[in-house]
Amino acid sequence: MIIDFHAHILPGLDHGCDDVLTCYKQLENAARYNVDYIVSTSHYTPYLETISSFLKRRDLSIKELYTIYEDWMPKIMPAAEVLIYSNIDKDKDLLNLCAVNTNTLLIEMPVGIWSDEIVNTLRSITLLSDVKVVLAHVDRYLVSEMKKIEYLELKYQINASALCSIKTRRRAVELLRNDKTIALGSDIHGIKSGYSQFHKSLKYANKYKPKLMASASKILEINLNEVNT
Ligand SMILES: [Fe+2]
Repeated sequence: MIIDFHAHILPGLDHGCDDVLTCYKQLENAARYNVDYIVSTSHYTPYLETISSFLKRRDLSIKELYTIYEDWMPKIMPAAEVLIYSNIDKDKDLLNLCAVNTNTLLIEMPVGIWSDEIVNTLRSITLLSDVKVVLAHVDRYLVSEMKKIEYLELKYQINASALCSIKTRRRAVELLRNDKTIALGSDIHGIKSGYSQFHKSLKYANKYKPKLMASASKILEINLNEVNT
């Protein structure tokens, strides 16, 4: 089973997918590369809207997606890529951004240096009861900043692009060796690189591919029989 843990494919919900036509092409492309499952992680940006507003827009976008959805396409699990922000840990709706029917929350950290406030906010989220935090595209963050959060109970997701570029592959493979790394994402925006890059990255992931797919399906509580039928 192939799971794309991080993708922007919901029509009109963020800049990753303008409309249903783009969505159709993205899903068609994913199917061509045998992707079984896509965790749809459109951006949630706390300073732009409330969580309930985002979820209402997401519902509408999912309805639109199902006007073009066909059985041969990958299954879709609605989720969100949540940008960390001061006090977001105190928002009573935060856990509604977990991947649907799971307690898995994908958090995006800022680029550059992380303030104590941001690190403390992340720590507070990890301490919320019954939440499994996964950090989005950890390959993008500075090694010095990753050291600040090493002790926290959370998991890592890496992007396909990090494995495909010669400049970043070494670090990406190091991250794959880390037990905390549990998933690979296309982080697809639009249709430019499509799923060919994701497919290529699975080859670079090589012996780690079964571990990544098994751990991703476990954390998402995906019923393998359901996917395979
Ligand atoms: Fe993303």
